[in-house]
Amino acid sequence: MNKFHFSEESFAYFKELGLKRIGIVLNNNKKEAVYNRFVKRLRSLYIDSFDDYCLLLRTNEKEVSVFINLITNIHTSFFRENHHFIYLEKIYFPAIIKSKTKLRIWVASCATGEEAYSTAITAYDAIPHIKNMDIKILATDINTEALQIAKNGIYETKKIQKMSLEHQQKWFTAIPNTEYMQVDQKLKDLISFNQLNLIQSWPMRGLFDVIFCRNTLIYFSSEIARKIMERFNQYLQPGGLLILGHSEVLKIKKHYNRVQTSIYQKSILDAIYEVN
Ligand SMILES: C[S@@+](CC[C@H](N)C(=O)[O-])C[C@H]1O[C@@H](n2cnc3c(N)ncnc32)[C@H](O)[C@@H]1O
Repeated sequence: MNKFHFSEESFAYFKELGLKRIGIVLNNNKKEAVYNRFVKRLRSLYIDSFDDYCLLLRTNEKEVSVFINLITNIHTSFFRENHHFIYLEKIYFPAIIKSKTKLRIWVASCATGEEAYSTAITAYDAIPHIKNMDIKILATDINTEALQIAKNGIYETKKIQKMSLEHQQKWFTAIPNTEYMQVDQKLKDLISFNQLNLIQSWPMRGLFDVIFCRNTLIYFSSEIARKIMERFNQYLQPGGLLILGHSEVLKIKKHYNRVQTSIYQKSILDAIYEVN
């Protein structure tokens, strides 16, 4: 039995806050899972009901940050949906480096960093003269605790072991007497990790060649997801790629062409029409 009273009103406030501050939709069937995620927090604050916790959320912005960190699902892994990285390695990077020396990539919901490091490894695999290139990967997320793990670049050995042996040996060093490994500084040097909320303003100026936003918009309201997909288009170079998660449906077809499962290319024709 649930020890902490979680009224429908409190859950309604969680839903409201989730939508307003993050963009996510909390369905009724999530109530139990939400309860389980927050119970430890209530205990640590010596609060014994969700109603009291909601009072705190209404008045304390710092607690809202904790709420955001607890409510977001940060599940990820190295080379998740590997076909995206194969496409970048075998097709997109080899083609683009024929005409460009500058590459900008945005990993727009990087969670604990595995997606950004997988992208950096893929760039090293695909681009022989990477030292002569100007490559930057911007990796952002709303969750500050996840971002700290991403910045540290220290992962449990069992997470790394799912990667090819070659990648493990080349890019990770075991931390003596622990079950953890440290990511190579050369990968870290390609990436900058920053907090960014997708439903607020995006401060970046330049355009990106590739934007990843995988397994994130699926949690958003359909209207917000559509608007974000539209905004991504404005932040892409003509011919640039938007990479979504396998179960996410592109909600605007007009400015993108599908090139492979869940990989969409910004239409080059749009840019021609804009210039004219
Ligand atoms: C399930 S993880 C997916 C991680 C990674 N993209 C992947 O596919 O493996 C979803 C991530 O989206 C982030 N997220 C959720 N809402 C966000 C928002 N409004 N702005 C930025 N990031 C958000 C979460 O913090 C979480 O790290």
